[in-house]
Amino acid sequence: MRNFLSTADWSRPELQGVLDRAAAFKDGATSRALEGKSIALLFFNPSLRTRSSFDIGAHQLGGHAIVLDAKGQTWPMEFTDGTVMDGTAEEHVRESARVLSQYVDLIAIRCFPDFVDWKVEREDPLITAFAAHATVPVINMETIVHPCQELALMLAMQSRLGDVAGKEFLLTWVPHPKPLNTAVANSALLIASKFGMNIRMLIPDDVYRLDERYMGAAENFVAEGGGSLKVTTDVKAAYDGADAVYAKSWGALPFFGQWDGEAPSRAKGADFMITPEKMAMTNNAVISHCLPMRRNVKIADAVVDSPAFMGIEEAGNRLHVQKAIMENLAGQA
Ligand code: CP
Repeated sequence: MRNFLSTADWSRPELQGVLDRAAAFKDGATSRALEGKSIALLFFNPSLRTRSSFDIGAHQLGGHAIVLDAKGQTWPMEFTDGTVMDGTAEEHVRESARVLSQYVDLIAIRCFPDFVDWKVEREDPLITAFAAHATVPVINMETIVHPCQELALMLAMQSRLGDVAGKEFLLTWVPHPKPLNTAVANSALLIASKFGMNIRMLIPDDVYRLDERYMGAAENFVAEGGGSLKVTTDVKAAYDGADAVYAKSWGALPFFGQWDGEAPSRAKGADFMITPEKMAMTNNAVISHCLPMRRNVKIADAVVDSPAFMGIEEAGNRLHVQKAIMENLAGQA
């Protein structure tokens, strides 16, 4: 049985197949692939886009979505094996995953890290446990990667740039008042490398390098399929001739959960906001962000409101790529 936990588990032709189907949905194709079927959408964290687009996408495929707020409407859950459950958790994933699997045909999960211990969080323990015990396919709606967002970004880039192989992709850290999850940055690395792009990762300080699991995967993908990966702190070199700019803020992993120590490194990126002056250094690049996004902190109004900005299109693509994923997984024998 196939899950959609990370694009790293899917080949480039398989992902292109999903993107082609998503493009067809965007062009008006219809499907009743979920007729008589259901999907559980389990949210441990807030959402606007993911929740709406999965619910509506399931409806458009003829299915039914049940949205579960796992931080208020369901029983607190335990995910670790062998635990003496004398704390707040009332049930174990070994039961909840198998019970839900009897009601629905797909389970989708959003669960961000708790920002306590990256050594634990980097194993993605909650969705991994769900996938181990569920007997229906599991879809990642964002944990420490955000694979649906990756596909939405790639669909937008292919629409604007054509074949992206060999194109210059800038993933730039941008300011934010709080240290954030690395999921979207990890995912941007995975999808750009999988599709053969030349990646420049712009960070204010070496402590913002992403986990080796994703840096290493990106190195492997470009070695196998073309493209390159370069990490830099040089703003001018990073923007020079870029074809696509992707903005994301994230917390430095060496200070995971102990953020006070990150402050001097974060200060080095104080002027990393994307401005018209920076965009003028690019090759007339397109620019995007996963949303939600703080205007004039991460990206200046003049850039967000320019034709180069494709964040709205990327968010719209979430509906189409998720319909393609649900159709694909629901169609398994
Ligand atoms: N980009 C994204 O996943 O948006 P939401 O957090 O609103 O779902």
